Formats: sequence, C-alpha cells, structure tokens
Amino acid sequence: MSKLMNRAVASFWLGAVALVPMQALAAEGHGPEIERQRWSFGGFRGQFDTAQLQRGFQVYEKVCSNCHGLSRIYFRNLVQGGGPQFPEASVKALAASWPNKITDGPNDEGNMFERPAGLPDPILGPYKNEKQARANQNGAYPPDLSLIVKARTVERNPSWWTHPFLMLGDIFSSYQEGGADYLYGLLTGYSDPPEGVTVADGMSYNKAFAGHQLAMPQPLQDDSVEYQDGTPKTLDNYARDVTAFLAWAADPSLDQRKRIGWQVMLYLLVTTVLLYLGKKRVWSSIKH
Ligand code: HEC
Repeated sequence: MSKLMNRAVASFWLGAVALVPMQALAAEGHGPEIERQRWSFGGFRGQFDTAQLQRGFQVYEKVCSNCHGLSRIYFRNLVQGGGPQFPEASVKALAASWPNKITDGPNDEGNMFERPAGLPDPILGPYKNEKQARANQNGAYPPDLSLIVKARTVERNPSWWTHPFLMLGDIFSSYQEGGADYLYGLLTGYSDPPEGVTVADGMSYNKAFAGHQLAMPQPLQDDSVEYQDGTPKTLDNYARDVTAFLAWAADPSLDQRKRIGWQVMLYLLVTTVLLYLGKKRVWSSIKH
C-alpha cells in the first residue's frame, strides 16, 4: 500500500476513535431543556409588537430595574421608531423621576455631582459599579440587561450526527431567538428543588439555569405588575413581554433591518429580470 493510502486509513481510524467519546460527551453533558417559544419578532419577517414592548418596559421598570441596569439603552431610544415608541413627554417625565441619578461634572468647584436623567442619558441600574452590586446582592452580580438576550442562548445536545441537520433546519427557518427562549425559560423556570437536591443558602432552584442554582430570587409572579391595556396579569405574560422588550434592547434596529432586507431582495429580483431581458436584446442579432 502506498504511504498516502496508509495515512488515509490511519486518519480514518483515528477519527472514528475520536468520535466515540465525543458522542458520549454530547449525550451526557446535556444542559437544561428549554422549549422554543413563538415570538412576534422571530423568523424572516417577524417584527416587534409595539404594545408588547411597552408592557415589557413596564415590567423592567417596576421589577428588574431594582437590581439590573440597562445602560446601553438611552431614554430617547424609548421614543424612537421600531421600539416601544412612548410619547416623548412621558419619557421626559420618566427620565426626570428615574431613581438612579446621572453622575455629571466636574462643576466649578471641581466636584462631581448627581443630577436627574434626561432624554440623552442611559437607563442606569441602582449600583455604581460591580463591587457595589456584589456587596448588596450577597456577592452575586446582577448583569446589565442591555445585551443579555444576545449574550445567552439555548444549548441543544443532539447526537453528533443529527447536529448538522438541526443546524441546517435553524438556518432555513432563520431561528435566532435562542436568547429570548432562554430568558423566558429562566423567568418561568423557578420551582421547588426536586427530591434529593439541596439548594445553598440564598440561592434559588431554576430548571433553565446551568447548574440549576442561581442567586436571583424569583423576580416575577402573577399580579406583580399593573398592566394598563387589560392584558392578563400572569407570570407567563410578564415573562414574555419583558423578554420581547430586552430582545429589542439588544437589537433595536431589527424591524428596519428586516424590512430593508425584503426590499433589497425585491430590488435584486427586478434587476435580475431586467438584466436578463437586456442581455437577450443585446445578443439577439448574433447567431450562436
Ligand atoms: C432582587 C434583585 C433582582 C431582581 C429584582 C432581578 N434580578 Fe436578575 N439577577 C439578580 C442577581 C443577583 C443575578 C445574578 C445571579 C447569579 O449569578 O447567580 C441576576 C441574574 C440575572 C440574569 C442572568 C442569568 C444568567 O444566565 O446568567 C438575567 C437574564 C436576569 N437576572 C434577568 C432579570 C429580569 C428580566 C428581571 C426582571 C423581571 C430580573 N432579573 C430581576 C438579581 C435580580
């Protein structure tokens, strides 16, 4: 047998031997099961639902902002198109009364000072820095939620040979809502620990969280927040709405991007037809 052939056979067997433990790992290390949800902004054409974003912001404001910041979103973003689109006057009033003040300065005496927020200011959480947050939360750090939906996803642990097919399926269905599915799963995933599992002091059991124990106490229950538009005040709705809002916060131009995407496709289609007709005409006098 030639040297090359020998090498090919050797790599085949090496590959085969390496795959067996990989498959065992994939089957074993399975993370928590998180169901996929239907989102108005999912798929190729999905768009945010303005009313849902407004309710979601309300949940963030009343509950999550007690511990988490949203510092990459500015009050003015809440007024802009593609987002919750609150009236400007009410956002101004909200910013002015936001409990977490903006540090500004230095003033004429050279000192930093605090002032109320306005439209151009970020939506700050209650803590000045990570150290202060940890000192107030038993050592745990409530992360800024601006990009949390992009920073998390749902892990699937199929056997290695189904993985490529599932991946292709996700590409063709344009699945990008892993972060939203995770967040919804986390907010609705609190329960008593199963038999035989002890939860450490100050921790809560959550089926969606890796390791199942996290330092955030269950933030939402039925009736946590007063909705103005008559939407039922259930944990499920709160979780769904605040997730949609945070998905917008992590990707504020999604609506516009998808709309332009379709316009570009249409434009390219028309251009293709025109170019084809033009080509036929230009070459029509030449025999071939
Ligand atoms: C009482 C304070 C508190 C409130 C209120 C709160 N959180 Fe948290 N949150 C925490 C802490 C503390 C952590 C860090 C948990 C850890 O590291 O174990 C955390 C972590 C998180 C995480 C990260 C989980 C991960 O995968 O790492 C998300 C997402 C989150 N919170 C979302 C929310 C949302 C949405 C709300 C509002 C509905 C909310 N939180 C309300 C304290 C809070």
